[in-house]
Amino acid sequence: MIVKIFDLEREYEENREPLLRVFDRVCRGGEFIMGGEVRAFEDAFARYVGVHFAAGVGSGTDAIRLGGLALGLKAGDKIVTTPNTYISTAMGLSIHGVIPIFCDIDPETFNMDPFSLSEVLRREKGVKVCIPVHLYGQSCEMDEILDLCERHGVTVFEDACQAHGALYKGRKVGTFGSAAAFSFYPTKNLGAYGDGGAVVTADRSINEAVCKLRTYGQVDKHVHAVEGFNSRLDELQAAILSYKLSRLDENNEKRRHLADIYRWDLDNETPALLPVEKPWAHHVYHLFVIRTKEREALSSYLKSYKIGTLIHYPTPIHLQEVYQRLGYKKGAFPEAERAASEILSLPIYPTMKDEEAVAVSSAIKAYYGR
Ligand SMILES: Cc1ncc(COP(=O)(O)O)c(C=O)c1O
Repeated sequence: MIVKIFDLEREYEENREPLLRVFDRVCRGGEFIMGGEVRAFEDAFARYVGVHFAAGVGSGTDAIRLGGLALGLKAGDKIVTTPNTYISTAMGLSIHGVIPIFCDIDPETFNMDPFSLSEVLRREKGVKVCIPVHLYGQSCEMDEILDLCERHGVTVFEDACQAHGALYKGRKVGTFGSAAAFSFYPTKNLGAYGDGGAVVTADRSINEAVCKLRTYGQVDKHVHAVEGFNSRLDELQAAILSYKLSRLDENNEKRRHLADIYRWDLDNETPALLPVEKPWAHHVYHLFVIRTKEREALSSYLKSYKIGTLIHYPTPIHLQEVYQRLGYKKGAFPEAERAASEILSLPIYPTMKDEEAVAVSSAIKAYYGR
């Protein structure tokens, strides 16, 4: 049996008829940029998250970029985030001269450690924005982060690119900060058939700023108030996303069911550590990430059984070449660095079959001689 790490071909096969109808509807409508499909998806997604506004943009990276600029960030301003994230969390804004500062993670959840955040906020003066990343589909400890940020006058901007539909104490991620960024990269829980992203917010002025920035700073046709970009969600992607949004909760439940299978099969059966789901979280398992000191040997063993794995992410971003200028050295964030050397993502996606999850866990148990 082959178990891919992601299987977008299977997803297409299972949704081919409705997707072809979506494609036909958009193409026959003859409108491809900033039309009714985008507006309909933005309304539906804002309603789903529980905010007033969603603005579709070209990618999750651009959601960080345009969202951060709309919050007023400019060259020389400081943001704080965690180093075990995709590079875009920082790069979306550092490309505009914003300075990323990092804090360490909680080793159980891989998310921002509020204690480490409190130390950074005490030490670093003038941090403008905090970007907690709801990594792998589980929310950060938002009460503590919000409290700390409020006390230090720091704006919260959530990176929810991996956490569509995840809850913190029963409330959707994306509703806690002044704004939040989502990615619709194809493998995400809500994935387009190309690039896409959105900035969500309850604040009309932030939404208006993002909407200006995404279309050349335009406020009316041929009227440009500020400098902006061309970064829009297109009609085809929006229509596909509207269709897939209607199935998001069901698909997240399938992910949770597969996670349960892994837990039933693997809990206390191997030395590998399984993801910890906090009592206040409703994890949507964008990724199912285990920890083991034998990561390379285990992933090669699984590969020999035709089981795909990946590492999200092998290099914490404070150690990436691009950020050497920030002056962080190895050892600066011990938990994030240790996690980066031990984590391994197992296959998990809504079209994955129960028997495939059982095959993966059986192979892991066989590796450990169980
Ligand atoms: C946590 C996080 N932030 C930002 C991004 C950037 O999103 P995109 O790939 O759509 O630009 C990603 C996507 O991989 C991500 O996982």
